[in-house]
Amino acid sequence: MPELHYAAAMALAELPAGRMRACMIGGREVLVCHTKEGLRALDNICTHAYARLDEGRLRGHKLVCPLHGAVFDTRDGRVLKGPATERLPVHHVRVEAGTIEVALDPAAPPAPLP
Ligand code: FES
Repeated sequence: MPELHYAAAMALAELPAGRMRACMIGGREVLVCHTKEGLRALDNICTHAYARLDEGRLRGHKLVCPLHGAVFDTRDGRVLKGPATERLPVHHVRVEAGTIEVALDPAAPPAPLP
């Protein structure tokens, strides 16, 4: 398994439960979601038509795109409702000393260019 390279994303205190926030990790826009089930990190760009998902809504573990309403599961990135058909890449997330850290999934496809 390839080595993961974690980078600081934001302070855990800046992201209360039920909120989400975008950041740049390794040149890629990543969305960190603080759901009731824990922290999740996914691409911030919708796989349908490149909307920024941090402008959408987080409903429990579901992420709703602001542009055409596609719904993604933050736990594994799968599409729960179209028009998107492609899964959202999911990245690794952990908390170290109060800081949320993200490691990009080495198997993720190249970042989309919005
Ligand atoms: S851009 Fe997200 S559903 Fe179309």
